[in-house]
Amino acid sequence: TVPEGNEFNGTFPEWACQRKAKLEHLNKKLTSAVEVLQEFAELRDSNQDYPRALAFRRASSVLKSLPFPVQSVEQLKGFKDIGEHVKTVISDILDHGSSSEVDDIEKSEWFKKMKLFTSVFGVGPSTAKVWIERGWESLEDAQKDGCPSGDWRIAWGLAFSKDLNTPVCRSEAIAFSRIVQREAEHILPGVITTLVGGFRRGKPEGHDVDILLSHPTDEAEIGLLPKLIAALGKRGLILIGHKEKNSFRSDILYQDFKLSTRGQLDHFEKWLGICKFPKSFSKSKDSESNSEVNQETSFTVPALEATSDSSLDESINDLYEPKAKKSKSSGAIDTEPQHVSAAPRDWLARRVDLIIAPISQYYYALVGWTGSKHFNRDARLYAQKKLGLKLTSHGLFDLQKREPLTAETEEEVFSHLKIPYIDPTDRNC
Ligand code: CTP
Ligand code: MN
Ligand code: MN
Ligand code: MN
Repeated sequence: TVPEGNEFNGTFPEWACQRKAKLEHLNKKLTSAVEVLQEFAELRDSNQDYPRALAFRRASSVLKSLPFPVQSVEQLKGFKDIGEHVKTVISDILDHGSSSEVDDIEKSEWFKKMKLFTSVFGVGPSTAKVWIERGWESLEDAQKDGCPSGDWRIAWGLAFSKDLNTPVCRSEAIAFSRIVQREAEHILPGVITTLVGGFRRGKPEGHDVDILLSHPTDEAEIGLLPKLIAALGKRGLILIGHKEKNSFRSDILYQDFKLSTRGQLDHFEKWLGICKFPKSFSKSKDSESNSEVNQETSFTVPALEATSDSSLDESINDLYEPKAKKSKSSGAIDTEPQHVSAAPRDWLARRVDLIIAPISQYYYALVGWTGSKHFNRDARLYAQKKLGLKLTSHGLFDLQKREPLTAETEEEVFSHLKIPYIDPTDRNC
């Protein structure tokens, strides 16, 4: 029997942060269509808070959590986040197999160029629009211009666009996390290293590797990042990157915060850059895709532990042998990428984010850096509207009482928010 929307939606949680959303769900065809509309709205208006994009995001988030495949728009009756526009798109797909509105967007040259240009590290919708206005059609056109904006991210992003647009696989993320753990542990014994971002949500691949670092003793983490970057550089793993200082200010904690894209930015000390991953980090994907390493979804990297995968262990250990080649580029990093990309090489350029959080903020940072982006946006809006609390990656703050709600586990973050704990792999809303 086909479930009726209105018999079911009475028990359907109102907020995305209260629902389970697995990577694999029953309405992929519909959500990928709605996500094209969402992406188009975001790119066109260069403002991620634009209500139109938000409406598409909310609708696809509902579809991701439905326990049945939608077979008729009747089943969506009463879901307030699924409006008439989305219903039309859905019934087109259910009736004819596709939506002409979505197809037209996907075919449009403007959309294709915007997607191509914003795929470059450091390029957002406004830069992409400038490039289109200049008549550029391809990344080669941008490369010919040299360093189009003077932004290091764009210069290096363009020089290594081929590598960076090849998805990072889980084995690469795990191998790199273990090296970061090993180096960080050497500098700061007891350090906590956690692979976050999409990989913690169970994604098989991603556009970068996000690693969150902390230490059980408050302030012990101070000074770790520069030493860690130097150590990774010595191993020949750093291509280019920049550190951002901690800009957290407790005096602005209780100021009203607007739930804009700005509200998404945090103030942690971090390093954003491009690393050199030995090609041996990416194992052959076919036969081994079901190995233990690939199934491991969420972990805090144990110190100096074997990976249950001997070939991966070998390639990590290679870096620790006395003969391990040390990159000359590690000491003085060249800011002109052009010459680097020509020669054949045994590594791939990969985007890496390293974030440092004091333990008092760690579990909120863990939630924030695990995502998804929509999960964060929704949880922050929920906290504000339902609880009168301000949620950020630094903590949860009672604006009236002017006090923080501290958390010593991730579960505690959820219990402060009065929502059942949601596993990271269920936060793909
Ligand atoms: N994030 C954040 N502050 C930033 C950048 C990112 O809080 N300045 C959060 C995002 O909301 C996201 C997570 O950190 O939930 C990881 O960001 P990102 O790497 O951009 O996205 P992923 O979900 O990891 O997706 P991908 O696999 O494409 O990397
Ligand atoms: Mn981009
Ligand atoms: Mn990521
Ligand atoms: Mn990232």
